[in-house]
Amino acid sequence: MIRKILWLALLAMAVPAGAQAPAPDVIAVVHVAIDTSKPGVEISRHIYGQFAEHLGRGIYEGIWVGENSKIPNTHGYRKDVVAALKAIHVPNVRWPGGCFGDLYDWRDGIGPRAKRPVRVNVHWGGVTEDNSFGTHEFMNFSELIGADAYVSLNVGSLTPYDSAQWLEYMTSDSKSSLANERRRNGRAKPWNLHFVGIGNETWGCGGNMRSEYAADINRRYATFAGTPREMGSLKIASGSHDDNYDFAEAMMRDGGKFDGLSVHYYTVPRVFRDKGPATGFPESEWASTLAHALHIDEIVSKTAAIMDKYDPAKKIGLYVDEWGTWYDQEAGSHPGFLYQQSSLRDAEVAALSLNIFQRHSDRVKGANIAQMINVLQAMILTDKEKMVLTPTYHVFDMYQVFMGAVPYSAKVDGKTYREGVPMLDVSAARGKDGKLYLAMVNTDPSHAVQVITNLTGTAHGRVLTAFAMDAHNSFDAPNMVRPIPFKNSNTADGKLAFDMPA
Ligand code: AHR
Repeated sequence: MIRKILWLALLAMAVPAGAQAPAPDVIAVVHVAIDTSKPGVEISRHIYGQFAEHLGRGIYEGIWVGENSKIPNTHGYRKDVVAALKAIHVPNVRWPGGCFGDLYDWRDGIGPRAKRPVRVNVHWGGVTEDNSFGTHEFMNFSELIGADAYVSLNVGSLTPYDSAQWLEYMTSDSKSSLANERRRNGRAKPWNLHFVGIGNETWGCGGNMRSEYAADINRRYATFAGTPREMGSLKIASGSHDDNYDFAEAMMRDGGKFDGLSVHYYTVPRVFRDKGPATGFPESEWASTLAHALHIDEIVSKTAAIMDKYDPAKKIGLYVDEWGTWYDQEAGSHPGFLYQQSSLRDAEVAALSLNIFQRHSDRVKGANIAQMINVLQAMILTDKEKMVLTPTYHVFDMYQVFMGAVPYSAKVDGKTYREGVPMLDVSAARGKDGKLYLAMVNTDPSHAVQVITNLTGTAHGRVLTAFAMDAHNSFDAPNMVRPIPFKNSNTADGKLAFDMPA
């Protein structure tokens, strides 16, 4: 039964921010049939997770300014950022890397800050890392924003014993020396640790391993990566990337016991060594970026097929624990800091990717966009005391209704924008509040679309629009791209229809 009330999460573009969508120039008609008779597997709220690495200004300035900063802060965490992250109910944060994690010694980041050692961040800009943001600062931050912690262990350059000690330090309620050391450092109760990452990118910066060796390493480290049973922590094995499936196969076959398998995929407009700019791009790069983003569907499908062979009961989740756009870094920004602007194109990539993860809810149990603040496809950008929310942030805000929702198949019948890029992408689900939600993405930057559904009832929702393909929010104009109420729903042949702008 289709309920009378229907809510929408909509994404479209091409009108000035703050204005309602203009009367469409050209209307293409797309038919959308939602099948509510076959509910899918509940969408995990963890697919809206974030990634925060010690990279550029992601942690330092982005999250942590220290207690003595002039930037308003609560115990060193900037207040504006904490409030913005709380508002989108970030489900989990992955830390400390990334590549940084496989050279990270957790002992560097505990105890009095003034006494912590200073290291060189060899992966990211060669800058010094004073370790003022360590285990306590991260775990307390996760609690502060209400997110589950996802800690990635160093399997590339430390021993399983080091990992075991770190986990005991964080999670033991015993009278052990490590638990007491944590107490002396200011934390009486253990923290809850939801996800334990067994390394990162073992095929690359995490050790340049062969897939068979990585599987053996996972068996070994996972054996000792224990937390108290009642905590129910999930162990995530480091898997494949892009179109390479060897690590997924080897890990599923020989990797021992684990609860999740990771895969990484970044979207670039051109090729990795010549990525293309974040703004000021031609329409051909709008189209190629969206086509490349949609390629993650094939990667997820093929990885899921490998997992099905070894785990037909689908007990092991697929975790896309690094994904997002990667462009040439902003001119004038510090080399190695991966600072890029985030435009309406990124919002489309975010929505298309989340729609894909939602459609694969039977296998995809988590995902972490790279990265949360000031790095790659960020939610938030900061410039000292200033903060701006990106169009990608607004997509995560609009998609909150899908956390824990039950998906339905949505058959889309209409034209394509470019080869491999449908003009309209749709994800449908019944929210926890019982309402039916649609997320619709018009991929065409110059043509509007009339969407005719098989639904009856009334609808309301929000639309994310802007005046240009690369429209973005800046510190001077922070509200150029933001969601506004959607008012273009009507009926066609007695069915609910929507006019979505280009
Ligand atoms: O997110 C930036 C880097 O990309 C991460 O450190 C690494 O895991 C990946 O290659």
